[in-house]
Amino acid sequence: MHALIVVAHPDPGSLSHAIAARIAEGALLSTPGASAETVDLAAEGFDPRFGAADLAAYRREAPPPPDVAAEQARIDRADALVLVHPVYWWSMPGLLKGWIDRVFTNGWAFDFFEDAGLVKKLRRLRVHLVAVAGADARTYARHGYLGTMRTQIDHGIFDYCGAHVARSELLFDAQSQDPAAHLATARTLGRMLFDGSGKAGATDRADLHA
Ligand SMILES: Cc1cc2nc3c(=O)[nH]c(=O)nc-3n(C[C@H](O)[C@H](O)[C@H](O)COP(=O)(O)O)c2cc1C
Repeated sequence: MHALIVVAHPDPGSLSHAIAARIAEGALLSTPGASAETVDLAAEGFDPRFGAADLAAYRREAPPPPDVAAEQARIDRADALVLVHPVYWWSMPGLLKGWIDRVFTNGWAFDFFEDAGLVKKLRRLRVHLVAVAGADARTYARHGYLGTMRTQIDHGIFDYCGAHVARSELLFDAQSQDPAAHLATARTLGRMLFDGSGKAGATDRADLHA
């Protein structure tokens, strides 16, 4: 079992990075022989701008640019994909959105033809989403931000490609609370990363926070 953990935060000392590290630790302990690769998009200098070469690939006029093909190969090697990011403007940072725009492209994540419609191509992939929020749970509930994030990200991106969103966690109060609880949650999440692999199960928050 192999996990690809993608973190999108410019500060390696951030809570997002610490959470990614705990998930990796947990993943290694989860199953004999398990492995984990952490991708620090900021440190690697991933270019999130969707450019002419990306558009040509999307239109099936050219192969994907080499940096995109390299990311797709990383995901192809993984049984579990974990995205760890701070919430920016009730969504993900532009760096991660650009990674998705460029990497989850027509021809690899899905096939779309006018006559045949949509073919989802990432059905074997299990995705775990971990967003770190500055605001509290009441703020998210009051404005409906949790629902809009789940609709846009979990359903709009990953369900569209056929990937199974095994967990979708929002860790609140990141700037005001002691990080210990979030770090413990992250480690538990790592240990449970490959649970139920191969079957479509519902997100189970009770297990994670027990
Ligand atoms: C540009 C920017 C936008 C932000 N927007 C939100 C937001 O919409 N909702 C929220 O809960 N927190 C927001 N925050 C707070 C971050 O989510 C918070 O600082 C971060 O998760 C703290 O964890 P870190 O140590 O990993 O940065 C924002 C922070 C920045 C820098």
